[in-house]
Amino acid sequence: MNMLSLFNDAAIGLGTWHMGESRSAAQAEAGAILHALERGVRLIDTAEMYADGGAERVVGQALQAYGAQRREALCIVSKVLPMHASREGTIGACEASLRRLGIDYLDLFLLHWEGGVPYERTLEGFAALKERGLIRAWGVSNFDQRELDAWCATEQRLGLDGCAANQVYYSLLARGPEFDLLPAMAAQRMPLMAYTPLGSGELAEDEPLAGIARPLGLTAAQLALAWTVRSGGVVAIPKSSTPARIDENLAAADVVLDGDTLARIDALYPPPQRKQPLAMI
Ligand SMILES: NC(=O)c1ccc[n+]([C@@H]2O[C@H](COP(=O)([O-])OP(=O)(O)OC[C@H]3O[C@@H](n4cnc5c(N)ncnc54)[C@H](OP(=O)(O)O)[C@@H]3O)[C@@H](O)[C@H]2O)c1
Repeated sequence: MNMLSLFNDAAIGLGTWHMGESRSAAQAEAGAILHALERGVRLIDTAEMYADGGAERVVGQALQAYGAQRREALCIVSKVLPMHASREGTIGACEASLRRLGIDYLDLFLLHWEGGVPYERTLEGFAALKERGLIRAWGVSNFDQRELDAWCATEQRLGLDGCAANQVYYSLLARGPEFDLLPAMAAQRMPLMAYTPLGSGELAEDEPLAGIARPLGLTAAQLALAWTVRSGGVVAIPKSSTPARIDENLAAADVVLDGDTLARIDALYPPPQRKQPLAMI
């Protein structure tokens, strides 16, 4: 099976961090998400943390306009905060996310980052949610190799399904996961969700990168995204509330980069030569 089948084989989705923070912008943000869905985006990433539930509400507004009958074809991802990640807390957080999103189930529910709650408790919550049909799969975020190994070992010990994805900071500005985490996940056929793939917008303004992109008919943002998803085991979730940028970002999914281009990118942003601690934003 394709490694990105969980994401409906989409290499590029839409992030929502900072959406829902202001009432005046919410309408336009919901419009931008709806635009993305109409243009074929099949993966939306959100979290209870974003604008304290406000981002999920904005996504919910867009989903309502998109139509319940088309929801089945989408992959909606949300995340539970570590401080809520006890068995009951995880269940309660998911139920609240579903209410804000106005949907019956999440396709993927992630532990946002590791906190003080033992993995067993969070996994009990995830398993109960799956049993009730409130989530289709679970996963983690901001887990480096060591934590991911311990998490997977806990799943095995409890006889549970496997972690479906790990969402980490991965971009040209944060290539650390290439050293060990990405190859290990690929060997397990676990997809990596690359967050902040545009370096919070910085890569879109990167002149040297734009210099490589321009002759290929690409923008710097498109080159950064095409590079991020080049392996086939990575899905990128750039955030934009601007319809034209959403179209621009989405087009990067079809770009195949040749060896010469990859070498020129490596010269600008060299690959890691040793283990680096996982970067977090
Ligand atoms: N799991 C985690 O801990 C974690 C952490 C961080 C992020 N995330 C997820 O990953 C998503 C993406 O990361 P991010 O939002 O931090 O950063 P990002 O996607 O790298 O960058 C977003 C910024 O880039 C701008 N932008 C987007 N497309 C552009 C383009 N084509 N040209 C120029 N500028 C462009 C956006 O502005 P406009 O909106 O104004 O267009 C926004 O300011 C988040 O939204 C969130 O869903 C997860």
